[in-house]
Amino acid sequence: MPDPYTDPDSQAKTAIEAMKSRLEERGQNDRFLRMIKNYGDTLPTDKSLCVLDLGCGTGVVIRQLAEILNPDSQFHGADISAELLREAERLSGNHIIQWQHLDTGALPYEDKTFDVITMHTLLSHVPDPVMVLSEARRVLKKGGKLIVLDADHAGTTYNQPDYEKTRRIDYLLTTAIATNPDICRQLPRLLKASGYRLMNHSVDVISECGKGDYWLSSVQGFARLLPTLGALPEEEADAWVSHMLRSHDDGTFFASGAFYTFFAETEG
Ligand SMILES: C[S@@+](CC[C@H](N)C(=O)[O-])C[C@H]1O[C@@H](n2cnc3c(N)ncnc32)[C@H](O)[C@@H]1O
Repeated sequence: MPDPYTDPDSQAKTAIEAMKSRLEERGQNDRFLRMIKNYGDTLPTDKSLCVLDLGCGTGVVIRQLAEILNPDSQFHGADISAELLREAERLSGNHIIQWQHLDTGALPYEDKTFDVITMHTLLSHVPDPVMVLSEARRVLKKGGKLIVLDADHAGTTYNQPDYEKTRRIDYLLTTAIATNPDICRQLPRLLKASGYRLMNHSVDVISECGKGDYWLSSVQGFARLLPTLGALPEEEADAWVSHMLRSHDDGTFFASGAFYTFFAETEG
C-alpha cells in the first residue's frame, strides 16, 4: 500500500477520518505546538508577511502562525486533499486564511509571491521532494524564507520486548506511512540542489519513558490506520497496539523520535 498521506482523498473513509483525528490530536500536544511556535518566533512580527503553508492538512500550522504573526499578514494554506481542506476551513475560527486545493507539482501562484513558505511534515510524503522545493523557490520572493519541519521517521522507534522485532516493526510502520522516511538526512543536499542556502537547523527529540503522550496518540492513530494500511499482518498489528497500550498502562512505555527544522533562504 502506498503512503496514505500522498493522496488522502483516495483512502477509505475510516482512514481519512483517522488522519484528521491524528493531525488535530498531535496539533494539540504541547511539545508539538512548541516546535511550530519556535520556528514562528524566528519570523518578524513588525511587518505584514505573505505566508504559505504547503501541505497544510487540517490547518494546525497556519492557524498557529495566524495567532503569532502580524495580523495584517496574508495567510494561505494549500493541500492535495479536498477533504482535509474542508476540515481546515471548518476549524479556522476567526482567522482569515485562503485555502487552495492543489498538487505541489505545479503551484498556481505567480513567481515571487510569498515572504515565507512552511512545509510541516509534507516532504516525507511526496514522491519528488526536489520538484516541490523548486516550485516553492519559484513562488518565494528574493531572500524569502523556507521553513521545513519533518520527522526523522528512519529513527523513530516504538519499543517491544524483542529488539529484532522492534527494528522490523519500526521499519514496516515508518515505511508504510512515509514515502521518504529519511528525508531529514537528505535535506541539506536537496535544499542546495533546489537553489536554497541552508541558514540554520534545529532538532527536537520527543522521547517518552514510562507513560506515553505524543507517541501514545501516534499508536492510537496507527490502531485506526493499520487495518487499511496493511503494513503488518492483522494479528501482529493487534499484538503491537496491545503491547504499546499495555506498556503505557503499567508504566513501561518507551517510544522516541526526532524532528528536524531547516531554515533556508532562496539564493540570489
Ligand atoms: C502528515 S500530513 C501534515 C499536515 C499538516 N502539515 C500538519 O502538520 O498537521 C501531510 C499533508 O501533506 C499533504 N500532501 C501530500 N502530498 C501532497 C501534494 N503533492 N501536494 C499538496 N499536499 C500534499 C497531505 O494531504 C497531508 O495533508
